[in-house]
Amino acid sequence: MGQLSIVIMAAGKGTRMKSARPKVLHTLAGRSLLQHVLNAVAGLGADRTLLVVGHEADAVRASVAGSGATCVLQEPQLGTGHAVQQVVPHLPDAGTTLVLNGDVPLIQADTAAALAAASGGKKLALLTVEMADPAGYGRIVRDPSQGDAVRAIVEHKDASDAQRAIREVYTGILAAPTAWLKRAVKGLTNDNAQREYYLTDIVAVAEREGLPVVAVPAHDEFEVTGVNSATQLAELERRFQRRQAERLMEEHGVRFADPSRFDLRGTLACGRDVFIDVGCVFEGNVTLDDDVTISAHCVIRNSRIEAGALIQPFTHMTDAVIGPRAEVGPFARLRPGAQLGAEVHIGNFVEIKNSTLARGAKANHLAYVGDATVGERVNYGAGSITANYDGAFKHRTVIGNDVHVGSNCVLVAPVTVAEGATIGAGSTISKDAPAGQLTVARAKQVSIQGWSRPKKAAK
Ligand code: UD1
Ligand code: MG
Repeated sequence: MGQLSIVIMAAGKGTRMKSARPKVLHTLAGRSLLQHVLNAVAGLGADRTLLVVGHEADAVRASVAGSGATCVLQEPQLGTGHAVQQVVPHLPDAGTTLVLNGDVPLIQADTAAALAAASGGKKLALLTVEMADPAGYGRIVRDPSQGDAVRAIVEHKDASDAQRAIREVYTGILAAPTAWLKRAVKGLTNDNAQREYYLTDIVAVAEREGLPVVAVPAHDEFEVTGVNSATQLAELERRFQRRQAERLMEEHGVRFADPSRFDLRGTLACGRDVFIDVGCVFEGNVTLDDDVTISAHCVIRNSRIEAGALIQPFTHMTDAVIGPRAEVGPFARLRPGAQLGAEVHIGNFVEIKNSTLARGAKANHLAYVGDATVGERVNYGAGSITANYDGAFKHRTVIGNDVHVGSNCVLVAPVTVAEGATIGAGSTISKDAPAGQLTVARAKQVSIQGWSRPKKAAK
């Protein structure tokens, strides 16, 4: 096949999305449509990847920075054929060119590779599929008198009723001999319903010139569904999420309360006997070890949850590590750098940031632990906080093993509460507290005899 060039068309506005954002930057499972396509072709070993940008070109360009793709501007955007015309000067005169639509996100790498191989720099290879509902797609018109040879692609808007009944559609992905493609797109016209230069018209060119045209079937409809509207995007998202859930069930035996109420926007590694309740969102890279339970409506980002841990409902965590058999939530918030040891308990309305809590430590109610090192078996009382920020700098709080911090305390950092110390409820601790002793820092309670409450004069 010689050199492989890849062209991804991403210049269109996506009018049917009814959005200010360019269509290819809308996200599916947390990644842009365009990023999905780039990921799919990343392993094909292409000699060059050319990205046609136009509508909101700067935003699209910025989104692919570092991907190695070369952006080529199409201005104005006069159709997919016109898009490929713009990359002609960047294409060599040999090898195969694979052209992909930026709005067909779930194309699989092996399908794209098979299509390029089917062209082999000698044929025009079209990726096609039978769609249950082909509305909106270009139809594959075959000639029964010529052994069903592909004659043309007719766009939905230009198709006759008989052609609209055809369920075999063009997926928006083709592979062609590069030198031939460069010539073929130069001759396109816009004599059609949309007054656009259609890339799909090169099929008729091939037919005229005697270049063999082959239709390569996609695995299934799913990998070649195009996104043209908010409804289609939402449908594809649900199908994609369902597939991810199925893979986790099949490969790791993950149990879902309802696999259709699951959202993974990244990667999820699971051990054995993991249970995930409804409405959870996983983002970035998340690892759940054996016997982990994630209760309903948790949002978990870039975190590791170790064996046997129980995450109660409505817990949020980002960049956190949860130790074995720990219990977190409901309504807990673990921010970056929260590291919980084995059997730590974090209860409702507790926020942990950039802190380590050693084995068996507990903060069960309404508390803030920020920039702290908390020892084993510490009991951190309800309503207590670390005052870690002086308005300019952050400071650390160190709490030794077996410390008991009473309720409603303020630990003004930098401060150390040594091993075994007890801090009386309501204390504001701004000096280090010694080991093993009770430290209390609050006004003494007094009772005033003969005091009476003010009363309003009788009217
Ligand atoms: C296109 C195909 C149709 C196919 C369908 C599959 C054509 C003429 N039609 O239709 O046969 O069934 O995809 O999903 O190719 N783009 C540009 N510049 C432009 C116009 C579009 O870069 O001037 C890009 C868009 O950003 C998009 C892709 O090309 O990523 C396809 O454009 P779109 O308008 O969505 O074409 P469809 O009508 O879906
Ligand atoms: Mg489209």
